[in-house]
Amino acid sequence: MKKLPEHFIFGGASAAYQAEGATKEGGKGPVAWDEFLEKQGRFLADPASDFYHKYPEDLELCSMFGINGIRISIAWSRIFPQGRGEVNRKGVEYYHDLLKEAKKRNIKVFVTLHHFDTPKALFDQGDFLNRDTIDAFVAYAQFCFEEFPEVEYWTTFNEIYPIATNQYLLGIFPPGIKYDLTKVIACLHNMMVAHAKVVNLFKESGFHGEIGVVHSLETKYPASNSPEDMHAAFLDDALSIRFLLDATYKGRYSKETLEALDEICQANDAVYDFPEADLLELEKAKDRNDYLGINHYQSHFVKAYNGENAIHHNGTGDKGTGSYKVKGIGERIYKEGLERTDWDWIIYPEGLYDLLLRIKKDYPNYKAIYITENGMGYKDEFKDGIIMDKPRIDYIKKYMSALADAIEAGVNVKGYFLWSLMDVFSWSNGYNKRYGLFFVDFETQKRYPKESAYWYKQLAETKTLL
Ligand code: NOJ
Repeated sequence: MKKLPEHFIFGGASAAYQAEGATKEGGKGPVAWDEFLEKQGRFLADPASDFYHKYPEDLELCSMFGINGIRISIAWSRIFPQGRGEVNRKGVEYYHDLLKEAKKRNIKVFVTLHHFDTPKALFDQGDFLNRDTIDAFVAYAQFCFEEFPEVEYWTTFNEIYPIATNQYLLGIFPPGIKYDLTKVIACLHNMMVAHAKVVNLFKESGFHGEIGVVHSLETKYPASNSPEDMHAAFLDDALSIRFLLDATYKGRYSKETLEALDEICQANDAVYDFPEADLLELEKAKDRNDYLGINHYQSHFVKAYNGENAIHHNGTGDKGTGSYKVKGIGERIYKEGLERTDWDWIIYPEGLYDLLLRIKKDYPNYKAIYITENGMGYKDEFKDGIIMDKPRIDYIKKYMSALADAIEAGVNVKGYFLWSLMDVFSWSNGYNKRYGLFFVDFETQKRYPKESAYWYKQLAETKTLL
């Protein structure tokens, strides 16, 4: 029997574009996704979970099921339809109302400023590859800090690495560019600079509350003990984990990170440039993060690979169709005997434990950690309002148990947000990949608690993993 701490947050996570729907309502400005999804013709972000109108009902469900924290994001283009300039008061009021409703119910709210949804006007000018976007982001953040003093927990960005790679390596996010490592690195770096600038502004202006960033950190292991595989795992880790944690907590890129970067760039004819002024900004912010948010779903096993880039993203849930081979880095393989989801995500809770202990050791100034996303994409079966999602319960149980062990070993983890609170729209899968504690009938928008919601409730009440 394992226990979680007394004041732990048992939360549920969501994001504006995936939950709100109403993409053209209330004066919201466009984002690149609107057009990208229309052209793709598979699914749209309307209606999503209609959180724009249904949030009181979802918060009521939180209260009923012991959920004492939620993650939401502010849609930048609801506040500034063109990314900067004129403010849309209707959008501002919507978030005030939502925050008020949560406060009434004693639900802590973690607010992300950017969850994959740069306003189209800025996106079309290069998104974060264009340094002007950094300034627009800082101005938007400042506006939010002044406008929403009721927010206690701010997050600058959600998942910088998946943004950079899905946009410029896998090409599954707009603008759909593949295998461009120069753009991947520039995007990673510029977003980290934007994060640091916002953190510095927040602390220097004395705004109320806490601030942090959410990184997607998926542990890398070598596929075997051969020096080649160990090196491949090191390279994959350097680009996806070390780069971001160095920038966040060391305020510079370490020698090992830069060596890995040079090797990756050489193989891909890529280049990078990190101006001195940027590094000073990172350096100033490194001890000012109040917490680190970690999104963690899976681990990767990496094998040496010398061929051309070849990635196939499994965005349909057809198990076994995914493949990932990157020139100058390595190939991610499936390990015999390890479970994986229909989307080929390897279930390996030890990966979370190892990751947390590594952060404690290598980045001791992390202060506090929240698991801001973890959960299982699953094709839930709906039978007369009953949803028996046992595999999801098993998944959460295993990961929470690893988490409890890490806390026991001295890592300061203060909360867990299951992805997702209710079923939401998925960027590359649409509506068939469900994660929620609450099943959403996307036609009627009716909510139904799944078996996992009842399980989560008893966990939140007893703080005991049975
Ligand atoms: C991470 C992202 O933050 C979220 O938007 C996404 O839907 C989940 N992972 C599941 O893939």
